[in-house]
Amino acid sequence: MMFAKTLGIASLFSVIASALPQDMMVSREDMFRRDGGGVTIINNLQQDVYAWSVADVVGPMQTINSGGGIYSENWRTNPNGGGISIKIALNQEQQDVLQFEYTESGDTIFWDLSCINMDSSSMFINSGFAVVPSDVTSTCPSAICTAGDSACSAAYLQPTDDYATHGCPISTALNLSIG
Ligand SMILES: *[C@@H]1O[C@H](CO)[C@@H](O)[C@H](O)[C@H]1NC(C)=O
Repeated sequence: MMFAKTLGIASLFSVIASALPQDMMVSREDMFRRDGGGVTIINNLQQDVYAWSVADVVGPMQTINSGGGIYSENWRTNPNGGGISIKIALNQEQQDVLQFEYTESGDTIFWDLSCINMDSSSMFINSGFAVVPSDVTSTCPSAICTAGDSACSAAYLQPTDDYATHGCPISTALNLSIG
């Protein structure tokens, strides 16, 4: 039932999508907008970074251009349950990965930053990164890792760092700025 409904919406969106200019389209997947919220990754580094949005399968590699390039994704769900991880790397081999992870739960989007698969000498650490919600509240705060802070408490450094998870209203737009 849900599947048929989703397909119906998908084909409707593909009609709308084909009528839109290309630069308004980030990817077909982003058209599965349920709630208005999502994440925008902004690359302020002087080198390109690469991103993969991972659910049950690894999404296509996205290149986020140096000097302010962006990649946006509306909140989406993982068909297998569980969450979505956007893996961000400085090279196409996915070494030194910064992860932005999120999971929808009712009207809340739970998210965190993870440095678990990143070396402390990574340029991400050296340059700093920050998540800023469109509407900052006590439960939906910014998460800021300043340049050079390899022990940043705003991100997961160990799988057990549960304090690094935040819950925001599902309509929240989050900006993840790198550098
Ligand atoms: C998020 O980034 C976009 C694009 O750069 C910008 O227009 C918007 O003001 C930013 N929002 C916040 C809350 O920083």
